[in-house]
Amino acid sequence: MKTTTFEEYQAAYDKSVNDPEAFWADIAGHFQWRKPWDKVLEWNFEEPKIEWFKGAKLNITENALDRHLAERGEQPALIWEPNEPDDKAVTITYSQLHRRVCRFANVLKKHGVGKGDRVCIYLPMVPELAISVLACARIGAIHSVVFGGFSARSIADRINDAACTMVITSDGAFRGAKVIPMKETVDDALEKCSTVKDVIVMTRTRTPVSMLKGRDHWWEEEVKYVDADCPAEEMDAEDPLFILYTSGSTGKPKGVVHTCGGYMVYATYTFANVFQYEPGELHFCTADIGWITGHSYIVYGPLCYGATSLMFEGVPTYPDAGRFWEITEKHKVNILYTAPTAIRALICFGLQYVKDHDLSSLKKLGSVGEPINEEAWQWYKHNIGHDDTPLVDTWWQTETGGIMISSIAGVTPEKPTFATLPLPGVQPVLVDEAGKVIEGNGVSGNLCIKFPWPGMLRTTWGDHDRCQKTYFSAYPGMYFTGDGCLRDEDGMYRITGRVDDVINVSGHRIGTAEVENAINMHLGVVESAVVGYPHDIKGQGIYAYVITEKWPDEPEMMRKDIGATVARVIGPIARPDKVQFVTGLPKTRSGKIMRRILRKVAEGDTSNLGDTSTLLDPAVVEEIKDGAL
Ligand code: WT7
Repeated sequence: MKTTTFEEYQAAYDKSVNDPEAFWADIAGHFQWRKPWDKVLEWNFEEPKIEWFKGAKLNITENALDRHLAERGEQPALIWEPNEPDDKAVTITYSQLHRRVCRFANVLKKHGVGKGDRVCIYLPMVPELAISVLACARIGAIHSVVFGGFSARSIADRINDAACTMVITSDGAFRGAKVIPMKETVDDALEKCSTVKDVIVMTRTRTPVSMLKGRDHWWEEEVKYVDADCPAEEMDAEDPLFILYTSGSTGKPKGVVHTCGGYMVYATYTFANVFQYEPGELHFCTADIGWITGHSYIVYGPLCYGATSLMFEGVPTYPDAGRFWEITEKHKVNILYTAPTAIRALICFGLQYVKDHDLSSLKKLGSVGEPINEEAWQWYKHNIGHDDTPLVDTWWQTETGGIMISSIAGVTPEKPTFATLPLPGVQPVLVDEAGKVIEGNGVSGNLCIKFPWPGMLRTTWGDHDRCQKTYFSAYPGMYFTGDGCLRDEDGMYRITGRVDDVINVSGHRIGTAEVENAINMHLGVVESAVVGYPHDIKGQGIYAYVITEKWPDEPEMMRKDIGATVARVIGPIARPDKVQFVTGLPKTRSGKIMRRILRKVAEGDTSNLGDTSTLLDPAVVEEIKDGAL
């Protein structure tokens, strides 16, 4: 599956463009299918309708687990590093993981969960999270993992959107020095959900929890009385595997749907190829399984490739800023895949946390989630990679299922701040505002993909029209990413950031409309407008302009209260960094907020605000400038 020289990469790329079906059939041949496909690809980007490996039957867990038992049953599949460095790490071999997944799959079945049913998973980064995900896949249930930092309301919205019948959670979560309630948050969410029949609660923190008779069950009890044998459900290649919610420019997060066959092939192929995984290597992806990065590069990609994947429960700064390096040394990590925001945070703590650790096991480094600035890139490459370790900057999205534009570690060239070249099978194009494809090099535009790849989303749950409108209508015949992009003289790609109303805060996608809706729920708020601004550590921070019924008596207190409302409505990750009270917003005569001006002020660049003549009331701009934070 891997292309190990630049020439092989070029040959694979050419083949993937000239004969995509033959290219992907070849890759798919490395997997275990119950029945082969009738057709590799059928597609149109108008509806859109995308079918990969049509007619094929499989179960992804047979590829992630059963297939490895004969050859590497005793090899670690997962290594779990707990929050407390002094607590014992847990190693789970492929055969142990297989057994635990089958057992838990039988628990799900016992409660009536079956093929096509939706299961919401709200768990900390414990092995049971990976086990839950795989157990759903085993029986053909569709998992919807909700990141542990989301609020009760966000959980409820996601449960209701997919009509989940079961929730899997824990009593609480350890995150650094904090203990965070999980079950209690689920209880609050379930006040608003009528579809959920059962809740399975795993014990982690021993936080007291309320257990409702008839609805709530302890994980540890449930797994005692079931069989360890659970034949995998036969799935169609195009059956949904999971839903993962992500923010866009409108208020409501979308449920991105990925399917069994194509996603498996794409996540695994990109894992093997980008990181050039070698047998026996230990892969440490620091993301949470609640995000797509964790789905593809902690669980599915590594396990389907028979790799060993390290899962870390805690945070990079607990008990101190050397934790990643301590873990690297302790477990002899070979591949480290993390986010620029973590690197930037660690840079601030200084090199003393790095230098006492032996990082010589590291062979490959990766970056993901947001543009990596030059300083962070150089620091990572130099201090962690000792200059000679390949560093791949991987661009992709929840919707793409796997890495799209990236160097291949040690195989294709690197360039700081550039994601560099498209992987085989990926056909990027830059498009101007008028929808015209921009040819040649040394150009920039909006990034689209003009040909399907197996890992792409198929629909947005319950609303195919929304999928069409969001991704396939801006530039007919192409998938629109929402990102701006530059292609340099050498044909290398650099992602410049979102061109829609999405902010990328610490690698997490947050829709400005969602935050505005939350702020507007706060007592006394009349209207608000939210924009992103450059933030030294988070990449982007959240800047909110807020109009209140009357000027706040205690603006500082009011700011905190608004922050509390946003944290309650969406989750702490969406809490604004800055709240500026204003008496008006810059609107055009047709009532549209001119966000361009608000962004400039938030960036601290008020010298040239551009044309303000179309504003209804140009005077508000002066007020906003004067009050800038
Ligand atoms: C958005 C997708 C991909 C998994 C994690 C985030 C930004 C992602 C990069 C990168 C520049 C990047 C884009 C993209 N992004 N990776 N290497 N360089 N920008 O997934 O939450 O779906 O966010 O993250 O803006 O559209 P996501």
